[in-house]
Amino acid sequence: MSSAEIESVLHENRVFEPSSDFVKQANISGMPAYQVLCDEAERDYEGFWARHARDNLLWQKPFSRVLDESDAPFFKWFDDGELNASYNCLDRHLNAQPNKIAIIFEADDGTVTKVSYKQLFHKVCQFANGLKSLGIKPGDRVVIYMPMSIEAVAAMQACARIGATHSVVFGGFSAKSLQDRISDAGAVAVLTADGQMRGGKEIPLKPTVDEAIAMGGCGSVKNMVVYKRTGSDISMQEGRDVWLSDLVQNQPDVCEPTWVKAEHPLFILYTSGSTGKPKGVQHSTAGYLLHAILTMKWTFDYKGSDVFWCTADVGWVTGHTYIAYGPLAVGASQVVFEGVPTFPDANRFWKMIEDHSVTVFYTAPTAIRSLIKLGAELPKQHDLSSLRLLGTVGEPINPEAWIWYYQEVGGGRCPIVDTWWQTETGGHLLTPLPGATPLKPGSCTFPLPGIMADIVDETGESVPKGHGGILVLKKPWPSMIRTIWGDPERFKKSYYPDDFRGKQYYLAGDGASRDEDGYIWIMGRIDDVLNVSGHRLGTMEIESALVAHDLVAEAAIVGKPHDVKGEAVIAFVVLKGARPSGEEAKKIAKTLRDWVGQDIGAIAKPEEIRFGDNLPKTRSGKIMRRLLRAIAKGEEITQDVSTLENPQILEQLKETI
Ligand code: WTA
Repeated sequence: MSSAEIESVLHENRVFEPSSDFVKQANISGMPAYQVLCDEAERDYEGFWARHARDNLLWQKPFSRVLDESDAPFFKWFDDGELNASYNCLDRHLNAQPNKIAIIFEADDGTVTKVSYKQLFHKVCQFANGLKSLGIKPGDRVVIYMPMSIEAVAAMQACARIGATHSVVFGGFSAKSLQDRISDAGAVAVLTADGQMRGGKEIPLKPTVDEAIAMGGCGSVKNMVVYKRTGSDISMQEGRDVWLSDLVQNQPDVCEPTWVKAEHPLFILYTSGSTGKPKGVQHSTAGYLLHAILTMKWTFDYKGSDVFWCTADVGWVTGHTYIAYGPLAVGASQVVFEGVPTFPDANRFWKMIEDHSVTVFYTAPTAIRSLIKLGAELPKQHDLSSLRLLGTVGEPINPEAWIWYYQEVGGGRCPIVDTWWQTETGGHLLTPLPGATPLKPGSCTFPLPGIMADIVDETGESVPKGHGGILVLKKPWPSMIRTIWGDPERFKKSYYPDDFRGKQYYLAGDGASRDEDGYIWIMGRIDDVLNVSGHRLGTMEIESALVAHDLVAEAAIVGKPHDVKGEAVIAFVVLKGARPSGEEAKKIAKTLRDWVGQDIGAIAKPEEIRFGDNLPKTRSGKIMRRLLRAIAKGEEITQDVSTLENPQILEQLKETI
């Protein structure tokens, strides 16, 4: 990051204190209470986590060991304990609050369906028994490719109940991406739906699964379960495919949970890295669930009267921790939404907050920015007085968007928790505590108690206040990634590289700086990963997709700042034939964009494609990405280009189509 960038964030010095009303009722009330927890963790790290694990999880067999570092960096937590995640999310509420609403589901067209904890429990049990009847066993991997629905949450819970490891694939991913994930995970079954509804449009799902399987490499898949959502005409393969309604029809509505070891893989979730194919981030059962529960209580200040709404899709980690597990484990009523924020119009979120009396609302900066654009005045037309707390996740929030969210949505009364975390961290790590932390717009503030975050230089030394560096975690924590599915070497290389002079630090892959008051400001990825609308995309993945096209000889992807998406994908392409211009260039650009959409998914389509006879390279043949980033931004090239083999290429690449 440039010193100018650091300068600009460090000049943000407005501070918003939590109101005394909020502080009074908060689970962690005031900075001294936060400090007490931090000190406890500092003094007795294992004791701190053990206490929380005993207080917050229901154990079938209690653990006697806390942290096992003998095979570091493959850390184990609570590993001789046994439990079940679904039992911890559902059964525990059956006596106390069986009729409390667990999920308020709002479909794309506005239809609302509610299920109580008891109803959800029975649904999950029937689903789990159905999966068992197909021969699915503990440890088997099950891919879930479903629309946002009560059934998708039930599918995840049903897998957890029988000890199967789920791997949810976002419904916007292409057949090719799905095939990669099914085959890498060696899934025995795929749970899907005929289609999904988003923004009034029907998007097929089952046909995409069929297409993925037809690509080969998915021989492990023996069964497909299909939830009827749209009623569209699809083909079912005899002996392999079954409708969800048929599968569960005669199943008992009680299913004994399968007790698993604390370290049993609850799920694998694929995410982009800087090199190669997406990596299967493997999470544990106990440590993961513990952090989901703690952050519901700490970050979201969860109270029994809350109506919680996280707008993420269950295809992303946010939808795992803050839809499928966290809210259920604490017994919350939560909204689950099928559609998009702009359908039928940009009032949708505000109307839903009003209709369902949402108290805690958690969304992405990109959604906030797009809703500001589409109607900054719209929140005023709704009664949003039920809200008491707001949250953001996925990317840095710019101070202007923060202030708007705070004033217009939160009425100046709701703290905003800007939560920094990753697929790999399982839950929030850096975030304000709403009843304690004075907020600075755009800063994720401080680490949670027990999270040993620091900003260091290349040698692993902490950087002084007012400086930037590399974000690391100096100690393992319970909800951390356990390994990359099937590739432990890659796990070590990606997260525990031999940098930092032998210190064993978790490398988050983000740059960050700390201001004079110690507040942490995330500066974005330091690797070749883009963050487009809060979604992680590896530049290599998109480059590989492009060069797989017959027309393309070479491609380089960079990110460019975008006022709604945060970052936009810009592609620099060299064709095998001559450099195209005019209409031809437009036509080829469209072909290539569609190609990337088909190969990865619509989110990866380049916003812009520029053609050159070559890419700017050093004499040793390395592509100079820094120059490409400058060109994409439209900046004057002030950098030294003396090592450049072919400086005339830069002029060509400045041309847009
Ligand atoms: C970025 C999403 C700034 C960061 C939960 C991280 C953020 C990546 C924030 C993980 C935030 C996430 N402020 N940047 N509050 N939250 N990021 O795995 O670059 O999809 O490394 O997890 O998103 O993205 P992922």
